[in-house]
Amino acid sequence: MTTFPERVFSGMQPTHSLHLGNYLGAMVNWVKMQDTHDCIYCVVDMHAITVWQEPEELTRNIRELTAAYLAGGVDPERSVIFNQSAVPAHAELAWVFNCIARMGWLNRMTQFKEKAGKDRENASTGLFVYPNLMAADILVYRATHVPVGEDQKQHLELARDIAAKFNNDFAGSIAAHGHGEAFFPLPEPFITGPATRVMSLRDGTKKMSKSDASDFSRINMTDDADAIAQKFRKARTDPEPLPSEVEGLAARPEADNLVGIFAALKGSSKQAVLAEYGGRGFAEFKPALAELAVERLSPIAAEMRRLLADPAEIDALLARGAERANAIAAPIMDEVKDVVGLLRPKR
Ligand code: TYM
Repeated sequence: MTTFPERVFSGMQPTHSLHLGNYLGAMVNWVKMQDTHDCIYCVVDMHAITVWQEPEELTRNIRELTAAYLAGGVDPERSVIFNQSAVPAHAELAWVFNCIARMGWLNRMTQFKEKAGKDRENASTGLFVYPNLMAADILVYRATHVPVGEDQKQHLELARDIAAKFNNDFAGSIAAHGHGEAFFPLPEPFITGPATRVMSLRDGTKKMSKSDASDFSRINMTDDADAIAQKFRKARTDPEPLPSEVEGLAARPEADNLVGIFAALKGSSKQAVLAEYGGRGFAEFKPALAELAVERLSPIAAEMRRLLADPAEIDALLARGAERANAIAAPIMDEVKDVVGLLRPKR
């Protein structure tokens, strides 16, 4: 078996300001992985335009998400930070993958069904092939590990299927070009921690999401202390006190969600939170949770505001990141063309 050096890739869509689900489900792990891996973190602006975006707002959101990465602890010296459309190899490899992935595979994607809703005929074709671009994002760097929240698991499985089919379809050419048995690694999802699926504060059975009509359903990373406290105060709960063991959360989605959020903010586990708060009611737990959230999130919001005051600095940082990303991706894309048999001018 061909082995690939470990490399981390992940991305977020600049379609909104970040919420607590994005932060706890993904970004907390991104920051940690910088200590052990080479990491590439992308602002996936081409994924954003699979649904309509006002141009000026999109540009603003790209800068704002970059500021959130930086304020959240992504270090532009150690990690590569850039926006997807600035590195052409993403779109080039996505086209090859459009020709590898099967209609049947994409038809099974639950996120497409959710996003397209009832009016599938009117969804953009980009939305349908969205997961192929996502596979290209990862594989154009031969990334091996992908830290994401639970909701991206199916897309990661598709990326593995695409990598495996490419390796299989082109096995002869891959070997003939000196790449051994496999051209692409099968990327591993890295979905871990107490908050891989943060739920709505209004309904513990629904994911916390940017598209929920009620702003009370989510904590935005830019919410001020009053908004955070008010949203947790109004969060739906049941009347029982907290259990002392994790098993006691099983049929209590709202309680489970708040305990998971507390644990993730604290960097501990649900069990550790219940060891402290088991037997106590929400009247006590909610203010403690709000205080912890403000303590963790307000420095991030303040740093975002500071960074956004100088958009030229953010643009320069993205440009440097795109250069570094391109230096990795372009040679791999050249190799893809050779393997597929697409004639290219020699560099
Ligand atoms: P996006 O922008 O919807 O979300 C960004 C990250 O946040 C996670 N997430 C959550 N985690 C826990 N609880 C929640 N309620 C919650 N909501 C969102 C997501 O799982 C994700 O990790 N398709 C991706 C972006 C993407 C990508 C990639 C990711 C494009 N190319 C390549 C990894 C690798 C997306 O739409 O994420």
